[in-house]
Amino acid sequence: MNAWDPNSYKRNASFVAELGAPVVDLLAPKKGERILDLGCGDGTLTRKLIDCGCTVVGVDSSQEMVSAARQLGIDAHVLDGHELSFNGEFDAVFSNAALHWMTQPARVVAGVWRSLKPVGRFAGEMGGAGNVRRLHTALRQAVVSRGGRAEDSDPWYFPNPGQYRRVLESAGFAVKVIELIDRPTPLPTGISGWIESFAQAFLGGVREQEREEFTREIETAVRPYLCDKQGVWHADYVRLRFLAIKSEV
Ligand code: BEZ
Repeated sequence: MNAWDPNSYKRNASFVAELGAPVVDLLAPKKGERILDLGCGDGTLTRKLIDCGCTVVGVDSSQEMVSAARQLGIDAHVLDGHELSFNGEFDAVFSNAALHWMTQPARVVAGVWRSLKPVGRFAGEMGGAGNVRRLHTALRQAVVSRGGRAEDSDPWYFPNPGQYRRVLESAGFAVKVIELIDRPTPLPTGISGWIESFAQAFLGGVREQEREEFTREIETAVRPYLCDKQGVWHADYVRLRFLAIKSEV
């Protein structure tokens, strides 16, 4: 489980919303549309959709993030993406950097389908196959070297385009765009900040006093690949970006 703290997220991860412009462009929100933001987080990107003249409902599984989104004036609700309960009421469903936390994609996509009006759009971006490969490998190894089972800690789902296309098409969507994009991403607070905001699940079995050492171990493992000569850390992000349409039945 990841605990979401809006303050540390702002410090460690403001790039998530800042780099979200391409998926907003792919959605192409139109004034007057009703849009569901699935995994709205602190609402930074949700506001951009509202600024386009859309009516937006945000949902997120984190109470803390929903409270932060509400402070931005967003109609946000605590809801697990596996449990979407809307019925034919949205012109589009939008999701940025959230779907890789939802490990039962067929349930999520079925809920998105039900939420949409006929010919509604589903535009999203998530971690794709190979996402944060160096970090992911180092985290799993650090768990195993402490006697844990990597699969018990691993919270992420990073599909390749073929796998996610099948999930979308099985639910009835027509896939218009689906692509993997390499996007090395500078980390404003380095590896320790990234672990603090995103990789707590791997720390579950690590005692409080050993967490610092755990983080140093990850830094040492990935430094040759993810730290440049100026000492700037980058994460090896790979995005899966897609646009799918709820086809007529
Ligand atoms: C992502 O946005 O791709 C991501 C974020 C945190 C952990 C893993 C992946």
